[in-house]
Amino acid sequence: MLYVEKPLGKMDLVVELGSGNGQTLVDLANRNIEGDLQFMGIEMNFSLYEKSCSLLTKDNNNITFVNNDFEYVISTFHNESISMFLSILPHPNYIGKESEVNWKSFYEMMISKMKRYGQFLLITEYTNELLSAVSVEEYVKWRKWIILTFEAIGFDVNVVADHAPNGFLSYYLSQFSNDTDRIKILTLLMGK
Ligand SMILES: C[S@@+](CC[C@H](N)C(=O)[O-])C[C@H]1O[C@@H](n2cnc3c(N)ncnc32)[C@H](O)[C@@H]1O
Repeated sequence: MLYVEKPLGKMDLVVELGSGNGQTLVDLANRNIEGDLQFMGIEMNFSLYEKSCSLLTKDNNNITFVNNDFEYVISTFHNESISMFLSILPHPNYIGKESEVNWKSFYEMMISKMKRYGQFLLITEYTNELLSAVSVEEYVKWRKWIILTFEAIGFDVNVVADHAPNGFLSYYLSQFSNDTDRIKILTLLMGK
């Protein structure tokens, strides 16, 4: 399910940044209903937040959705208090090359909130400016850039996969899976 190398401990918190319609996190939480993980999804769009809340049942006492800016919410946590961050197809404001100077400081703050052996699962996509079929060369160049950028922030990139993890439900992942020539998916699992 999650790429956890060793089981997370009791009451470990898994936070999804930009949780969209909540589908991913509710599915993960339902698969961990007897476990000891707590899940928090942060989404600033109110109607998506409402959709997330509508997925919850009385058994979902291991999951919370928050309607706010994740930059603010994460800044309120103690250092080294969050076990796992998930970011699935982040908005270009948090991954685009052109806005790198803006988002680097967010990830620097985020890594300080991640536990010593915590993890960050990032699933992101590459498209080119013409929205034409992506060549292997341009994809590999972009992948190298993104890995070096996250390493420069302080992350150890432990797993690199040129696809999404199996069994991850996400509205945008399912949309993008129909256009694999023009949209290349990259998964990075990072520690610190
Ligand atoms: C491309 S969508 C991906 C949603 C979901 N992870 C998925 O795969 O379907 C990015 C989401 O991040 C949210 N978002 C962007 N910036 C945010 C911020 N600073 N705080 C909270 N949510 C944010 C957007 O509202 C949007 O729902």
